[in-house]
Amino acid sequence: MSATDSATELYALAGGLRTAFLRAGYTTDGVLDLLGDDAQGALGRGEPVPVRRACAGGGELGTLIRLFLLGDTCPRTAVAAALAPVDIDQAVAFGLVRHDSPGAGAAIDVRPVDLGAGNRWLFSDLDGTLRRHDITEDHVLGVGQASLSLLRATATDPVDDLLDIGTGCGVQAVNAADFAAHVTATDVTDRSLAMTRAGLAINEISSDRVTLAKGAWFGPVGGRTFDRIVANPPFVVGPPKVTHTYRDSGLDLDGASELMCRTAPKFLREDGSASMLASWVITGDDWRQRVASWIPDHGIDAWVVQRDVADPALYVGTWIRDAGRDPRDPAAADLADRWLTHLDKAGVTGIGFGFVFLRRTDEPSDLLAEELGHAFHDPLGPEATDYLNRVQWLRTHRLVDEKFKVTDGAALERVATLDPDSGWQDVVIRIHRPDGPRWSHEIDPLGRSLLAGLRPDGLNLSEVTELLTLATGAGHIDAPAVQDFVEGLIRHGIILPAHWDAAR
Ligand SMILES: C[S@@+](CC[C@H](N)C(=O)[O-])C[C@H]1O[C@@H](n2cnc3c(N)ncnc32)[C@H](O)[C@@H]1O
Repeated sequence: MSATDSATELYALAGGLRTAFLRAGYTTDGVLDLLGDDAQGALGRGEPVPVRRACAGGGELGTLIRLFLLGDTCPRTAVAAALAPVDIDQAVAFGLVRHDSPGAGAAIDVRPVDLGAGNRWLFSDLDGTLRRHDITEDHVLGVGQASLSLLRATATDPVDDLLDIGTGCGVQAVNAADFAAHVTATDVTDRSLAMTRAGLAINEISSDRVTLAKGAWFGPVGGRTFDRIVANPPFVVGPPKVTHTYRDSGLDLDGASELMCRTAPKFLREDGSASMLASWVITGDDWRQRVASWIPDHGIDAWVVQRDVADPALYVGTWIRDAGRDPRDPAAADLADRWLTHLDKAGVTGIGFGFVFLRRTDEPSDLLAEELGHAFHDPLGPEATDYLNRVQWLRTHRLVDEKFKVTDGAALERVATLDPDSGWQDVVIRIHRPDGPRWSHEIDPLGRSLLAGLRPDGLNLSEVTELLTLATGAGHIDAPAVQDFVEGLIRHGIILPAHWDAAR
């Protein structure tokens, strides 16, 4: 049997593996208990020795950690005992472990993860972090930083139908099964779908609730619409060639992200939303214009968030290393050269990366593309929902007639320098939001006074502006400028409509 053929049978082992893993304590909590914080940290850094030391005397759990998390060869009798009731010969035949004379080693990665709703297990290919090996074209990626960032950027309020494009090891689909009545997960490789099927089975997620479909992009779901779409597609920017399906789409440059942005809207139900990872090339034009051109003029509210930008050299080097290759190796160097030449010819000076959030409406589209480069800890999924709710609110209200409140906990920061004649002089005033993406805006003294005047049970914006004109002797306050100022703060959740909870 080839590796792909054997993976198709993996799901048949899932029930037995679940029994074995629960007995041994091969769960997120169990692994942490045995390893302790230090060895767990070493595991994350790809340093096997502290982990092996912590596993000594760890019984079946120690064997499973060494087998699946370190990729160690372990004594065959210990592996057989740890996997029981799964028969070790069957585990070999079905591609879970391999004979590694004189012992046995893992043929794939199966690990406990906590995606936010307790322990789950996921199957993927060995990632080569702890043991170097070549990865195949249909290599199935495990749960990585990108997977987790999309997971945290996905709203988890209940929906009927969710679509996961490019499911890989099934991480988004398994997570979505907690809040979606039905999940459709697609991928172009049989191996991904086999791993996902095994992941669903071991987590006892009924096959009635998840449909797996093979095919590219939206091909397998033609004619259907969804309440939510999630996608961590193969968005890597490069020549139109597939070396690894997890990263290459076969489309030129940022074609994969463009295709997803242009096509996803057609598969969303009214009010349906999409959370997608995407990247875009920067060619001298403002990156915002490029991404904006992918969003239809009507029927979509879009929030595009650029999290990072890499220069071409850093970008190509990172992806070459990600595939387990040494950039100094002649074949890898040749690949890097061709890749960089391709980017150069296209005039690419940088590659932006981030999230695209979409929501279907009946109205002309609204698009905000902006940078969010600073660190924050709150998940972006609830923020995306709130942001799109605020956009809908803005569409249906005249700001001048409305009353507002400054969000709870917002902080005003004043930076002042000492002037010998006039004392401390403000050079910058900022208003900070304490939660979510922790936005901050520079404001002027007039803006500061305006914010101080906003009360949910007080005056409306027009009245506050008039009062401010009189109080400051400003003579004339530019009303459109005030509205732009307020709208920007509403979009970022620093100012909220007076009865915002009720408004939602
Ligand atoms: C970056 S991995 C994402 C895996 C997983 N969803 C996650 O969040 O970690 C991209 C996945 O898309 C699949 N893929 C590649 N080309 C595709 C296409 N044209 N249509 C759908 N899926 C594709 C790959 O096989 C791979 O499993």
